[in-house]
Amino acid sequence: MEDFLKTLPQHTCSWSKGTVTFYKYQGFWNIQDFLEGEIIAQQSFKAQPNDIFLCSCPKTGTTWLKALAFAIVTREKFNESTSPLLTTMPHECIPFLEKDLKQIEDNHKNSSFPLVATHLSYTSLPESVISSDCKIVYIYRNIKDVINSNHHFIPAALNIPMEDVSFKETFDEFCQGISWYGPYWDHILGYWKASQERPGRILFLKYEDMKKDPKSNVKKLAEFIGYPFSVEEENAGVVDNIIKLCSFDKLRNLEVNKTGMHRPEDFPIENRLYFRKAEDGDWENYFTDEMKRNIDNLVDQKLSGTDLVLK
Ligand code: A3P
Repeated sequence: MEDFLKTLPQHTCSWSKGTVTFYKYQGFWNIQDFLEGEIIAQQSFKAQPNDIFLCSCPKTGTTWLKALAFAIVTREKFNESTSPLLTTMPHECIPFLEKDLKQIEDNHKNSSFPLVATHLSYTSLPESVISSDCKIVYIYRNIKDVINSNHHFIPAALNIPMEDVSFKETFDEFCQGISWYGPYWDHILGYWKASQERPGRILFLKYEDMKKDPKSNVKKLAEFIGYPFSVEEENAGVVDNIIKLCSFDKLRNLEVNKTGMHRPEDFPIENRLYFRKAEDGDWENYFTDEMKRNIDNLVDQKLSGTDLVLK
């Protein structure tokens, strides 16, 4: 693996207190640890037709989507007072393709739990995910808040003090396509093109739309993944309870998400870092007018001919 990594294009982000190196593999940038998991998954993962993939680029609302999908799928077993989401952070409720192959295989053998999460681009998904015609849910978010969210998350996850980090550098790198699982626009375009070719198999959700209208989006999600709400459930407030349980304020204030640690044994990240502000438009506090113009032009160029709105 070390020898193979040396053959790939590399980019190192350096701060006075640390560095991180990204490798470009199959058109997308990743860090070593997750890239190794990606390659192992590509070589050995066998999808089952009932698997449901939750796909996203980091910082686009993955944590929220995982919580909602988990609450929807497990609602017969748990309610808002007994849900594992109260004591387990959402990322740990759903196995992650690049890291948890064994757990996914165990689920295939021993349970009917269908959810699998990944940050992989569509073109990097293991072949069996496409050939077995699994359902895919893809969440995306406006690019400026994604840049801003990355800017806060990556250094904090690496224990780099924020005062050491320049927003301009994050921005410039992001615009060159260099970000975790980036280029972001190519990530979205891959799933978007696939959704045109495979209508009915890929559901696109937009973070901002979900914030504006959580109820219809949660119902759409449940319907798509094959766990629709009955009229009785809706009347009994089940949808509203799931939305409340998975809301930013509820999850952020749980003890596990305030003080717990995600993947303590191999890639430790404090859970609280996944719950920052969850605001639409926090980017305005960081972007100059020139940055705003540049990113809008870039998005116009990259997404022309699609109905995707990233601004
Ligand atoms: P901010 O950094 O803008 O606050 P991901 O889960 O893909 O890593 O994305 C993280 C972003 O989603 C963060 O955005 C985080 O605050 C926000 N987020 C986390 N949980 C959320 C929830 N339950 N509802 C809405 N947004 C949430």
